[in-house]
Amino acid sequence: MQDISLSLRKQNETIGFVPTMGYLHKGHISLIEKAKKDCTKVILSIFVNPTQFGKGEDYEKYPKDLNRDKILAETAGSDYVFVPSVGEMYAENFKASVKVKELDFVMCGSFRPGHFEGVCTVVAKLFNIALPHRAYFGLKDYQQYLIIKKMVEDLNFPLQIVGCPIIREDDGVAMSSRNKYLSKSERKNAAILVECLNQAANLIKGGFTNLEDIHNTMCEKLSGNPYVSKVDYFDFRDSETLENISSIDKHDFKRSGSNLLIACAIRIGGTRLIDNMVFDIGRVT
Ligand code: PAF
Repeated sequence: MQDISLSLRKQNETIGFVPTMGYLHKGHISLIEKAKKDCTKVILSIFVNPTQFGKGEDYEKYPKDLNRDKILAETAGSDYVFVPSVGEMYAENFKASVKVKELDFVMCGSFRPGHFEGVCTVVAKLFNIALPHRAYFGLKDYQQYLIIKKMVEDLNFPLQIVGCPIIREDDGVAMSSRNKYLSKSERKNAAILVECLNQAANLIKGGFTNLEDIHNTMCEKLSGNPYVSKVDYFDFRDSETLENISSIDKHDFKRSGSNLLIACAIRIGGTRLIDNMVFDIGRVT
């Protein structure tokens, strides 16, 4: 793959890269299509990365359908599909790791220790293999997007990170390969996640500034749903620093040039689902 990318670069092609763990859905397709618009060649990688899964998580059962993925990727505009094996990515004596401090302590990082280190390490490897000019990430995994952007900035990777909008089902549920785990009634109830995000946003638009109160109301609503087995977090954070925000009035958004991130992670049965919304505070206050 690296040889191909080196030769594409020699031919002055612009390489767009979409790293995935496969089992493609419309969210991934939108990333490929955006890459195709911006770049002359698109590389998609499919690799279920063992080092970003914790003990008892879904590494073993992560959904796979490589033949379907290849067809979808090609139809959407991928020129190459890179599918390395675990052995190729991690030799027996593999020792390196990449960590972005602080941003990985909070939100998903505090419930999935080591997860973002696994993500950063594999993404750094994939960047060095695919040698892209631009790499495309969905904003559903907002914390991942922010951490990778910081890694690229701090470690001088010569490429641009492009964040792309969340693609949603008709009822608002964010597209995710993990939605496949949900039973029919669990899937129906998964809409509570986006409902709570919208409700919180509407309260803020309506003039509520005390985010702790909104947090408590939303946690109560989520925990009250019989399909929600656990609420990991419903947080209000600075969209650049991930600092916790308890009151809109007291937070200096201008300092970091940021917005309000409303982010949430819950479990429905055994399935962990995340969603978020970046709220333009300038349009509210
Ligand atoms: O978002 C994902 O699918 C994965 O975390 C990524 C970026 C492909 C790294 O394994």
